[in-house]
Amino acid sequence: MKQDMIAILDLGGENNSALAREIRALGVYSEIYAHDVSADFLKNAANLKGIILNGGPNNVVDGKEIDVDASVYEIGVPVASIGHKKAKCAEIASDELRSFVFGTCKCSANWNMENFIADQVELLKKQIGDKKVLLALSGGVDSSVVAALLIKAIGKQLVCVHVNHGLLRKGEPEQVIKVFREQMGATLIYSDSVDRFLDKLAGVSDPEQKRKIIGAEFIRVFEEEARKLDGIDFLAQGTIYPDIVESGTKTNKTVKSHHNVGGLPDDLKFELVEPLKYLFKDEVRACGKALGLPDDMVYRQPFPGPGLGVRCLGAITRDRLEAVRESDAILREEFAKAGLQGKVWQYFTLIPDTKSVGVKDNARSYEWPVVIRAVNTVDAMTATIEHIDWPILDKITNRIITEVKGVNRVCYDLTPKPTGTIEWE
Ligand code: XMP
Repeated sequence: MKQDMIAILDLGGENNSALAREIRALGVYSEIYAHDVSADFLKNAANLKGIILNGGPNNVVDGKEIDVDASVYEIGVPVASIGHKKAKCAEIASDELRSFVFGTCKCSANWNMENFIADQVELLKKQIGDKKVLLALSGGVDSSVVAALLIKAIGKQLVCVHVNHGLLRKGEPEQVIKVFREQMGATLIYSDSVDRFLDKLAGVSDPEQKRKIIGAEFIRVFEEEARKLDGIDFLAQGTIYPDIVESGTKTNKTVKSHHNVGGLPDDLKFELVEPLKYLFKDEVRACGKALGLPDDMVYRQPFPGPGLGVRCLGAITRDRLEAVRESDAILREEFAKAGLQGKVWQYFTLIPDTKSVGVKDNARSYEWPVVIRAVNTVDAMTATIEHIDWPILDKITNRIITEVKGVNRVCYDLTPKPTGTIEWE
């Protein structure tokens, strides 16, 4: 392993992730551990150079105040504490972090993407040997970066499966094929499952029911593809560090459980490969960029798993779904032209299951409205509305009402979160 490491022990601090990111921003790798991690375990961590005890208000578990295992002080690397008064070590303030990391612990600033990639390639080769790895490649940031990393490490031993469920944005399946099969030479199985998903979804209007159907059908299609293949031992997943940190150390209650392709039947047992599990999202993007993935893949805005399925409100019909896809493509194109791509966190269109009266070509029309949503947020828990210049909205509106079949009206959703969620379903 090439990079030095500072371990953060979670003693109920509220900002474990922020602290890890601060240390990584100094060019030094850092990982978060539960408060009661054993000294032996830490000793075996590659290139451990120092430990920070990160105390805070969440330091009571099951009615008892938590503390570290005393042997942690005997590992032989410097130990410092932030906000943990009882610790048998010096208390450092955040602005002293740099001197602790470089002065006391003598770390080198050698955490960068080139070293990360080199380390991971070596580890992946060792873990996988001459076996094969399966990956559900949606074309989202995380699965794309996992694919690129595995292609670099094991080439043709990676088998990617791209399931087109018909709810992807315009041009996405084509881009996945172009980038991974044609440019990177990956083994890519393309499963055109559009009819299958849309048939299952026909007449279903409840949002949670739609999500369940899409999720379950995805697993079924993936399972079928996996069963056609022989001799696959590993399943790669795009798990990233926030997934793990949020899933809970001892003091963090489980916020979410993440299983990207969870739910596979028991007889399809794979060993997991999760090469991004220590990266934060911006690092995942940097990794993808370093591996040569295109910018519009790496800096892609968040896109929900059920895709356009939750933006074609109510029971999905093919014609309305197509109108969502086309209007969304126009919005994205115009936002890119206006330089808004990196400035707005998430932007998309949706179409409610309703029509309104209008006039088109001198005749009465009775067609769908398209709603534009463009929000900014840090963590998706709250969101504000982006102020878009009128001429841009004007142009988008004109293009949508002239180019998209079945649409006679465009609205801009001004609702922040709360009270509105980002998606309408
Ligand atoms: P809401 O609508 O809850 O969305 O304000 C917050 C963020 O989560 C995304 N989202 C989803 N992502 N599966 C996903 O993978 C889902 O079912 C889902 N629902 C919402 C949404 O796009 C936004 O970024």
